[in-house]
Amino acid sequence: MKVDNSAELRRRIEALKREKRTVILAHYYTRPEVQQIADFLGDSLALSVKAQSVDADIILFAGVHFMAETAKVLCPDKKVLIPCPEAGCSLAESCDAKDFAAFKSRYPGYRVVSYVNTTVGVKALTDVCCTSSNALKVVESIPADVPVIFAPDRNLGSYIQKLTGRQNMVLWNGACHVHEEFSLEKLLALKREHPGAKVVVHPECRPYIVEVADFVGSTAAILDYCGTCGADEFIVVTESGILAEMKRRYPGKSFIPAPPDDESCACNNCKYMKMVTLENIAACLENEAPEITLDEEVRRAAERSIRNMIAIR
Ligand code: 13P
Ligand code: SF4
Repeated sequence: MKVDNSAELRRRIEALKREKRTVILAHYYTRPEVQQIADFLGDSLALSVKAQSVDADIILFAGVHFMAETAKVLCPDKKVLIPCPEAGCSLAESCDAKDFAAFKSRYPGYRVVSYVNTTVGVKALTDVCCTSSNALKVVESIPADVPVIFAPDRNLGSYIQKLTGRQNMVLWNGACHVHEEFSLEKLLALKREHPGAKVVVHPECRPYIVEVADFVGSTAAILDYCGTCGADEFIVVTESGILAEMKRRYPGKSFIPAPPDDESCACNNCKYMKMVTLENIAACLENEAPEITLDEEVRRAAERSIRNMIAIR
């Protein structure tokens, strides 16, 4: 029989946090029990902004690798811990820094906008990062006659291209394995079953899914919309971890997760985010490892593109 030791783990984590002056930052896609022990819970943009101002000796990042790297870029003097360094991201992995440098060299004079879901090496080759919260503002901040490279998410890129009508934009061909898996057929069937429900969609989804949405936005924007739009029922087309925060914020409303194409794979779960557990957080705090370390030259180059993003928030 499996023993539930989560209460004991939570107590250990709380004690270690106090003893080591540690702040835990967590993304909404992590497991509900991980979200519960976080000092700050947010989407990618909010977490980057928070990382630069935390009052602590140690930041423990309960999220995927690129998020912890971003915190280290912004806080080089702090120890940044990652409980599960194997927790990657299919978007970040779809864009290797060497390949991206070769791609960039084919487009001289282009301004490079990269989604924050990239490695530090790609950020170092970027003029300004963005998240799904501020991608539109970031692209709009670039003069219309300056061509743009947008990487690595082709779906977010084409969504922004459609909103801006910008022709002079080339897209890197990357995607998120979670957001690409939703089935249009199953989504339309759910819509017929729940005609009063609003369909909320993350822009990392494929264009034909975005097209049937009542609202398209980042994790934080979707959460806000569910509180303000007046509807009581929502079909949620994004990673399923967000449901915990939706239910916490709006206990009277109903949230239906949209199914992926292959329901046996549970691919509306980010397998990387779910690798972060109370067990590996406690061990990481105890050992003060694994820790993020970065080459200083690369860090400085990446910092410029992240700070440019935060300025456009
Ligand atoms: P946001 O947190 O910007 O909505 O991004 C979603 C995501 O896929 C994070 O990896
Ligand atoms: Fe990366 Fe997609 Fe997971 Fe976000 S949900 S961390 S984009 S794989």
